Amino acid sequence: MTTTTTGVTLLHRLHHSRSILSLTLNSAHIFAGSQSGSILVWSLATYSLVSTLRGHSGSVLSLHLCDDLLFSSAGDAIVQVWCPRTFRNRYTIYSTFDVGDVFCMAYEPRGGTAYFGAQNTSVQWIDLKSAAAGGGRSVTGEAHPSKRVHRFFDSKGPGGTCTPRPEGEAGGEGSGEGKTLLEIEPWNIVQYAHFGYVYCMLVLPASQIGLGAGSLLLTGGGDGDIKLWAIDPVTGGISVLRTLAGGDSGVLSLVLKDTLLYAGLTDGEIHIWDLDTCQEVRSVRAHCDDVLTLAVKGECIFSGSATGFARKWNTRFECVNRWRAHEGLVLASAVTERNGRLLYITGGNDDCVGVWDVEPFPVKEGGMEREGEGELLSSLAKLVAFRTVSSDPSCAVECRRGATFLKSLCKRFGATASLLPMEDGRNPVVFARFEGAKKKAEKGKTLLFYGHYDVIPASSEDSGWKTDPFSLTGVDGYLYGRGVSDNKGPCLAALFAAGELLQSGRLESDIVFLIEGEEESGSRGFEDTVRKHRDLIGDVDWILFANSYWLDDDTPCLTYGLRGVIQATITIQSEKPDLHSGVDGSSLNREPTIELITLLSHLTSPTGEILLPDFSTPIRPLSPAEEGMYLPISASLHANPTSLYHGLPQQEITAHLMSKWRYPSLTIHRVDVSGPSNNSTLIPRSASATISLRIVPDQSVSSVTSSLHTHLTSSYPGSNSLSIHISHSAEPWLGDFTNAAFSSLQRAIMHVWGTQPLFIREGGSIPAARFLEEEFGAPAAHLPCGQASDMAHLDNERLRVTNLSGAREVLGRVFGELTAGRSDGGEGTALVNGNEKKALANVQDGV
Ligand code: BES
Ligand code: MN
Repeated sequence: MTTTTTGVTLLHRLHHSRSILSLTLNSAHIFAGSQSGSILVWSLATYSLVSTLRGHSGSVLSLHLCDDLLFSSAGDAIVQVWCPRTFRNRYTIYSTFDVGDVFCMAYEPRGGTAYFGAQNTSVQWIDLKSAAAGGGRSVTGEAHPSKRVHRFFDSKGPGGTCTPRPEGEAGGEGSGEGKTLLEIEPWNIVQYAHFGYVYCMLVLPASQIGLGAGSLLLTGGGDGDIKLWAIDPVTGGISVLRTLAGGDSGVLSLVLKDTLLYAGLTDGEIHIWDLDTCQEVRSVRAHCDDVLTLAVKGECIFSGSATGFARKWNTRFECVNRWRAHEGLVLASAVTERNGRLLYITGGNDDCVGVWDVEPFPVKEGGMEREGEGELLSSLAKLVAFRTVSSDPSCAVECRRGATFLKSLCKRFGATASLLPMEDGRNPVVFARFEGAKKKAEKGKTLLFYGHYDVIPASSEDSGWKTDPFSLTGVDGYLYGRGVSDNKGPCLAALFAAGELLQSGRLESDIVFLIEGEEESGSRGFEDTVRKHRDLIGDVDWILFANSYWLDDDTPCLTYGLRGVIQATITIQSEKPDLHSGVDGSSLNREPTIELITLLSHLTSPTGEILLPDFSTPIRPLSPAEEGMYLPISASLHANPTSLYHGLPQQEITAHLMSKWRYPSLTIHRVDVSGPSNNSTLIPRSASATISLRIVPDQSVSSVTSSLHTHLTSSYPGSNSLSIHISHSAEPWLGDFTNAAFSSLQRAIMHVWGTQPLFIREGGSIPAARFLEEEFGAPAAHLPCGQASDMAHLDNERLRVTNLSGAREVLGRVFGELTAGRSDGGEGTALVNGNEKKALANVQDGV
């Protein structure tokens, strides 16, 4: 996440197809009014689009939340009233006059009167309480603005034709038909409230400025005046109390803090009035162009301008921050406090919403219980910023800093933590113990969570990355950055889940974390380090991973199998130096590169079959029960329009999945030659190829490695020297998906995602999986956190915020259950697909 100025951080950008003209917030949602006429509702927790409210055919110019009512006013001369929880439309309000755009509105909750300021310079009101109680006139809808002659669309232009109306303007969804229509009584109007458009208004209790009981209305107009109106407590009618005469600049925005009124003007000034005395206290040149929006919270005032800049002010009206918030105009803003942080939200004509953390203070220590998805995100932002690339020796210091950051985080949660050193200066393993209360020591189980903090290289230049890979960037509900999904995000989700249990006193037994920094380099040295610190780590009962992906973007999965891998470099080297191909090239000279290619061609048949001796005999045969397991998976992928397999015949999908999950594969990653790359007259002295073999149960690293050796040495004619180097390897892993850890994961997924997970295997490898199971004699289970579209190892790696918080919640439940020994789910929760699981159990038994 980029910090624009000290203290201002862009947390997230949300995109839409049109300008964002109005904004309001409650504790759960961002409501954004758009030029398209829609109101977009985004979750403040996950930044996912929760709903789109369609009720306007013109730009949504203002939004206002009060008393569990959401008001929207628009360029279609209509005000819609919504329930902010169910998002249902409750009322459609309009005037029988032609009022033009309704720029602003305010609600007086005691009398239940809603006020509107419009383009025709009027202020109007409606008694919503009595209208809601059925006291309003019965309305036929004949006077609905969409039914009336339109000044522009229905006038005959040159040549006598009509401008076609925008689609959906009249009738249908969005015109308000079928909902409660309320017409403003013709006498509830003050014509010429200003000598200009009525741009902004607010309601305040009269006591706030020492004017007795009752409520007041403030309006700001294009004429430069601000008017203070008394509200009649019985009729809701208004009468001018005072006019605060400004200059020539129109009043575009108003906010009130105690008795001080801040008015944003068309020329960039902000005027500050004391309503106690109705005197202008100060005028500040805040921006170089229109101050289109103001917001206030606590001691902070925010202004947004047509320049695209936003500013934060303190109560002495000193500018604390200034930053470019939008490429274009800042049209709307709102501010709220969330998890102890101040959030400022802006909308602009660059069609997007910006969510800014504007809290100047560092994250508070402790206090991480339940709240704090903000804290999880800011920790992830910090972790992603460390370039923990294990394959790049120049990143060693960054790797160390990343490990130290994780260690400190664990300690802050109350865990004991240390870095386990590795041989040869390799990146250390972060070890942490979250110690349980051990009240039910005899039943509770100790968990080991394994993950990795190292990542695959990524560069922002010369690559397809749209953002800086080492600066976490939130866009439209996704977090972009190297390692967010593989595996930094899931590791943090697990740490936060464990921290929350520990801090709330609900952790019964220990949770141990091993987060290594060499996984992407084949976990070199990890086994030795774990063995060396075996006593410190102690015994564990369950092992958990969270380092793979769903099969599509919608269906949660549980992974019970991974392939193993053997990565080898094959080199053929001549005794001679590099030679000239014209001077020395001859059929008698056996060139290493030609020999290497010939040798590689012996690895597979022309149809792709792997030709190592005895290679396929130990592959576990497919039983009918296992075959049956592919049915729900292929059915789900076949049916999902967002899946890559959508619409393909199920058999084809199954064959494809099997070939990746239960059969081995061979890849030639690269072929390199010695000598300069730009000299094509050279006979390279040596040639090498990096290959990898993915292996499956019941193959083993040792048998396949020796078979590879035998095959290569026996196929090689032998004029130069052949060497084979195994750079890293991993055994395949097949877990028991009928065990209590998988059952607990399954229940937690049902609870959090509301749907059954698919039990799947994966083609990728995690070297530690089988090793840890064997070393600790404990079974492992694997929760994939990310979606199929996460792009792990590739450009624009990402993780959906919803998946990150989902993983945290699932792991929190599973950690809680397993460490308390409640492996039956506590309430004896029945498994919905028990039969399916039985079929699965048969597979494990090889039935
Ligand atoms: N998270 C992956 C493993 C993975 C990939 C699981 C795809 C499921 C699906 C892990 O970080 C990884 O990249 N593993 C390497 C291991 C190798 C370096 C020994 C892999 O699979 O190539
Ligand atoms: Mn990886």
